[in-house]
Amino acid sequence: MSGYPNVRLRRLRGSAGMRQLLDEPVPGPACFMWPVFVTPGQNQCEPIDAMPGQSRVSADRLCGMLEPVLEQGINSILLFGLTEDAAKDPDGSGAWDPAGAVQRAVADVKRRFPDMVVATDVCLCAYTSHGHCGPLAPDGSVDNDASLAHLARVAVSHATAGADIVAPSAMMDGQVQAIRTALDEAGAATTAIMSYSTKFASSMYGPFRDAERSAPQSGDRRGYQASYQNPLLALRESRLDEAEGADMLMVKPALFYLDILNRLRASTDLPIAAYNVSGEYAMLLATADRGWGDLAAMARESLCAIRRAGADILISYWANRYREIFS
Ligand code: PBG
Ligand code: ZN
Repeated sequence: MSGYPNVRLRRLRGSAGMRQLLDEPVPGPACFMWPVFVTPGQNQCEPIDAMPGQSRVSADRLCGMLEPVLEQGINSILLFGLTEDAAKDPDGSGAWDPAGAVQRAVADVKRRFPDMVVATDVCLCAYTSHGHCGPLAPDGSVDNDASLAHLARVAVSHATAGADIVAPSAMMDGQVQAIRTALDEAGAATTAIMSYSTKFASSMYGPFRDAERSAPQSGDRRGYQASYQNPLLALRESRLDEAEGADMLMVKPALFYLDILNRLRASTDLPIAAYNVSGEYAMLLATADRGWGDLAAMARESLCAIRRAGADILISYWANRYREIFS
């Protein structure tokens, strides 16, 4: 009785109706967070070459761009800031400018859409002249402890502008603790921290660095971002950030790291975000472009995989095309 021909699993998937009855639901729009690039100036909306479908917008154009996204049920964004090359310095001080692109954008969005959940990326690489995620020590490495005070200032400036969530991505030791302490001292105890807790030194960030003009001028980020050949160390990063007071954790990239996501899911009760990064996005677009796959079908399958592996929040550039992908 226990096998064929008595058992036929195709009975359970043989019709559209049966599949509809038994399938897990696709991820709903409510669990998506859309990453958005904000640039200084006014009336800017510049398509990003390496990321078709995404653009850099100035704060004044952002709310208009969000309307069709909100209509699809996407109610959360993650903001990345840019600055002019001439405004970059070794400390990345433009990142905590109260009149910076992110700070303005947060205030505008929260004024217009108070119920939207606005998260901000907290890092320095788009603001440092050398393109690293913190100031450099004399030996050329990123100075961990000097970075902490800078990152805390950035987080406080975002929280002061009204951000609901600050998301530190620099991979400095102690950054979550430093930011939590600074937020609390600044009266921002209700601002949540979503830590990029397990962020790998990945080759899949290329289109993003193009979009953000944030590629390191020399060297790479392997001295601070996690090694994909050392999964235990990468998982410790998340555990430590939880102990430092992170409210949510993250695995990044998502698709090449579904095993890590799944392991983290089994070992924490914190919400987990998965960052479906720029290279993962570009990969599917390039495949579809050549006629080698159906874009919506590939995007749908990949997003279902990330969800199934255990992500609560899907940070994805597909968010603004939700309806097209899942209808
Ligand atoms: C910078 C940062 C990066 C991404 C998010 N924040 C790139 C990097 O570490 O160089 C990558 C996002 C993507 O590729 O979509 N701290
Ligand atoms: Zn960075």
